[in-house]
Amino acid sequence: MTRSDPPTTRPPSTTRFALNGRAVELQADATMPLLWALRDHLGLKGTKPGCLQGVCGACTVHVDGAPARACQLPLSAVAGRTVTTIEGLPAHTQARLQAGWAAHQALQCGWCQPGQAMTAASLLAQPVAPDAAGVAAAMAGHLCRCGTGHRVVRAVLAALANPAPPARSTR
Ligand code: FES
Ligand code: FES
Repeated sequence: MTRSDPPTTRPPSTTRFALNGRAVELQADATMPLLWALRDHLGLKGTKPGCLQGVCGACTVHVDGAPARACQLPLSAVAGRTVTTIEGLPAHTQARLQAGWAAHQALQCGWCQPGQAMTAASLLAQPVAPDAAGVAAAMAGHLCRCGTGHRVVRAVLAALANPAPPARSTR
């Protein structure tokens, strides 16, 4: 997919933030959407561009632990904050999500799925697990052109019910 925002002509400035557990100091146009900073400047292609309008949820990351749409945030908005992308989810969270996704075959082309997984991860982190209606409401903000929405809700519920899937054998 090709980025659709016009080339920037603004001078770069330094934005410092924490990204996936590491301190980052990025020299770039601070008005650029965080989405492009992640993908084009920091090489993290897991965060996907979709509508670029804040509607589809494909670009969802966590900012200070809460889901946020990276296409709608200027880079300057995360200065001094903590950003987590799909690449930075803890291993046990990834394992829970992968087990749920696999059990319910909640994957088609995959484009929307990193964003869906980031919202799902935020549900796993809640002190009280949401019920089915709460999960459906949280995931309703994600659009999937492949029609996986119902399977994703079932996958998230499975992940919530499965706090510690067994570690995969490396043999
Ligand atoms: S690409 Fe950000 S919400 Fe669709
Ligand atoms: S799995 Fe294809 S867009 Fe959601």
